[in-house]
Amino acid sequence: MDDLNGVQVCSVAVTIDPLSWLDERAAERVAAGLRRELRARAPQSPSIDLASNDYLGLVRHPAVVEGAIDAVRQWGTGSTGSRLVTGTTVAHEQLEAELAEFVGAEAGLVFASGYAANLGVVTALAGHGALIVSDAGSHASLVDACRLSRARVRISAHRDVAAVDRLLATRTEERALVLTDSVFSADGDLAPLAQLHRVTRANGAVLIVDEAHGLGVRGAGGRGLVHEVGLAGEPDLIITATLSKALAAQGGVVLADTRIRAHLIDAARTFIFDTGLAPAAVGAARAALRLLRGEPEMAVRVLERAADIARIAGVAEPHSAVVSVVLGEAQVAHDAARACRARGLEVGCFRPPSVPEGTSRLRLTARADLTPDELDTIATVLTEVLAQTRGLSAVPA
Ligand SMILES: Cc1ncc(COP(=O)(O)O)c(C=O)c1O
Repeated sequence: MDDLNGVQVCSVAVTIDPLSWLDERAAERVAAGLRRELRARAPQSPSIDLASNDYLGLVRHPAVVEGAIDAVRQWGTGSTGSRLVTGTTVAHEQLEAELAEFVGAEAGLVFASGYAANLGVVTALAGHGALIVSDAGSHASLVDACRLSRARVRISAHRDVAAVDRLLATRTEERALVLTDSVFSADGDLAPLAQLHRVTRANGAVLIVDEAHGLGVRGAGGRGLVHEVGLAGEPDLIITATLSKALAAQGGVVLADTRIRAHLIDAARTFIFDTGLAPAAVGAARAALRLLRGEPEMAVRVLERAADIARIAGVAEPHSAVVSVVLGEAQVAHDAARACRARGLEVGCFRPPSVPEGTSRLRLTARADLTPDELDTIATVLTEVLAQTRGLSAVPA
């Protein structure tokens, strides 16, 4: 027994490493092919990018870069505070109005990320006394929003409208939300939005649609899947989106009724207790949106390039920029991704828990600006790597 300033402490002769479990977890992940590695990019890489979410190929577009620089010159490098204190500039409000007008919503509110937008809107509209029904394929940020919300949460089978209807019909709660991605991030498949909205409305609930992968890709001129199916501006439908994919910036947005915007300003904790979106991101997103408005064919081109990549990979034509090539075990997908990379093709690799066991895959994302030469290289590399991989894998093309 030691005496530390009068406090008696039992000292143990052996020192126990409180972090030794991390080594065990790491070893388990290595054995299962699930260890994740960070790979820093060089500023100029000769590789072809099929891994990013820069769907319209705008992150280095001179007008977008200028938009960011102009905003920094005007407003500085940071937004300096919460949106409620000093973090709102005229540019934030202009971006919100422009985005809302683009997708056909009444109003918009930007957040520091798409993740924060999802957490903010779900937790501010649900809570004790609410039911949330969320699609089994909803993005992790919606899953975490459910967990934080303290509402009763039920997961509906993927794209199963009848299941959503059944779950809503049994509710005893006063309020209910239905959550879904419009374009699901792992498979690139689409939510049945029109039917989902019908059952949501019939049950007096509100539908929240995450358009992270729909904005800039689906709908007229990239206005998103909600717009495409004719639901823009419906008061019981809320859109969330990230500014980090087609809009080549960073940040998130909620696009909805003005009453919802006002409520989020009062109640969304990720809005209130987070520093406002950086001016550079606001300027870049505004410039990217201007480009998309001026060249709506970009949204068509990204789908055409996705169809080209799917043809090369021998998988079904995709409904979005995401081409998913399921290969099976995590290690097989990991090795295939590495082989592509070694041949100058950057690809995504999705493994559990991002996707179910046994469905690890290459995730290839199309960009509107892919050139014919790049497509030729993609064909050479993918054909070679997939022939080798499928020779070893249980999953046929
Ligand atoms: C469907 C979906 N929702 C939300 C997010 C989160 O957006 P952000 O990266 O802006 O936080 C992502 C991915 O980044 C996503 O794929």
